Amino acid sequence: MYTPTPEDKFTFGLWTVGWQARDPFGDATRAPLDPVESVHRLAELGAYGVTFHDDDLLAVEPDRAKAIESFKKALAETGLKVPMATTNLFTHPVFKDGGFTSNDRDVRRYALRKVMRNVDLAAELGATTYVCWGGREGAESDAAKDVRAALDRYKESLDILCQYVIDKGYDIRFALEPKPNEPRGDILLPTIGHALGLISMLEHPEMVGLNPEVGHEQMAGLNYAHGIAQALWQGKLFHLDLNGQHGPRYDQDLIFGHGDVKNAFFLVDLLENGGYEGPRHFDYKPLRTDDAADVWVSAAANMRTYLILKEKSKAFRADPEVQEALAASRVTEIAVPTMAEGETVADLFNDDFDLDAAAERGFHFTHLNQLALEHLFGVR
Ligand code: GCO
Ligand code: MN
Ligand code: MN
Ligand code: MN
Repeated sequence: MYTPTPEDKFTFGLWTVGWQARDPFGDATRAPLDPVESVHRLAELGAYGVTFHDDDLLAVEPDRAKAIESFKKALAETGLKVPMATTNLFTHPVFKDGGFTSNDRDVRRYALRKVMRNVDLAAELGATTYVCWGGREGAESDAAKDVRAALDRYKESLDILCQYVIDKGYDIRFALEPKPNEPRGDILLPTIGHALGLISMLEHPEMVGLNPEVGHEQMAGLNYAHGIAQALWQGKLFHLDLNGQHGPRYDQDLIFGHGDVKNAFFLVDLLENGGYEGPRHFDYKPLRTDDAADVWVSAAANMRTYLILKEKSKAFRADPEVQEALAASRVTEIAVPTMAEGETVADLFNDDFDLDAAAERGFHFTHLNQLALEHLFGVR
C-alpha cells in the first residue's frame, strides 16, 4: 500500500532532486547530482518519468552531446519516460530582464533559439508537453516595462514556437506556468487566469495550455484546487507542478502535502475524479537542511503523500454519511442547468417560489467540511 508504480504516472524535474540548495543568503549545501543517478534512483522509487530544463542535463558533464548520450542510456536502462521538457531562461545573467520579453531584442532572439534547440531534443525524447515558466519575464519598477508591448512580445514568441512545432511536425503542446513574483518583483502572467487570458489571444490557442504550480497560486492567496478545476473545465490542464506552500510568502517549493494539506486533499480528489490523465509531476525542493541521502526520502514522500490522499479521497466518497451530507448540501444540484431544455425566459416567471422559505434553508456545509477533515485526520 502507498508504494508507487509507473502506472501512477509520477514524474520529477531533474532540477528538484538535483537542487543544490543555493539560496539568496547561502551557498549550496549539497554536491551536484548526476542526472544519470537521478534517473536510476527515481526509477527504483517507482517513478514513471523525469522532466528537465536544457541546462539540467549539464549538471556534471559540460559537453551537451555527451550529457545527452548518457541521459538517453539511463532512460533506456530504467524505462523512465520524458513526458515534458522546458527551457532555462532565468539563470544566465543575459536573462536578467527576461527571455521572451526582455527589453533587449537581441536577448529575445537568443531566447527563442535556446527554446527551439531544446524543443528538438524534447521531441526526440518523446515529450508531448513543453513548459514555459517565465520567471524573469517581469519588472521591479512599473516605469521599466511597457506591459502591453511585453505581452505583444510574449504572444509573438509563443506564436513563433507553435509555428515551429507545426512546421517540424512535432506532437508537442506548450504549457504556460503562472507565478506572481520571485525572482522578479512582478512577473507577467501572475495567475492561472492571466495565462488563460493571454492564450485566448494567440494564433494557435489550441496548442497552448497551462502548467499550474500549487505554491504559485497559493503565493497569490488563491485556491489552487479551484484554479485547476477551471483549467480542466477549459480543456487547458496540459500538465501541473505539485508541491507545498504555506500561503503568501516566498516560493517554498515544499514536498507535496507539506504545505496546505487540506487543499492538497481536495486537489487529489479533483485530479482523480475530474478526468486529468497526465503525469503527476512534482516540482519541489528538498529542504536545504537535508543531506544527499535525505533527498531520496523527500522524493519518496511526495509520491507516498499523493497515494495516501488518493486513498483518503476514495474513502471520503464511499462513506455513506458523506454521501448523505453531499445530498443534504445539494452539491449535485449545481450540475442541473438553471433553465430546462426548451424553456424560455418567460418560464422563469412561472415559478412557484417561496422567497422566505428559500432564504431560510441552510446548506449544512459545516458538517460536510468536518467529515472531510475527519477523513483527512484518519479518525473515520
Ligand atoms: C518555480 C518554478 C520553476 C519552474 C521550472 C520550469 O518554482 O518558481 O516552479 O521551478 O517550474 O523552472 O521552468
Ligand atoms: Mn514549477
Ligand atoms: Mn515554485
Ligand atoms: Mn520550482
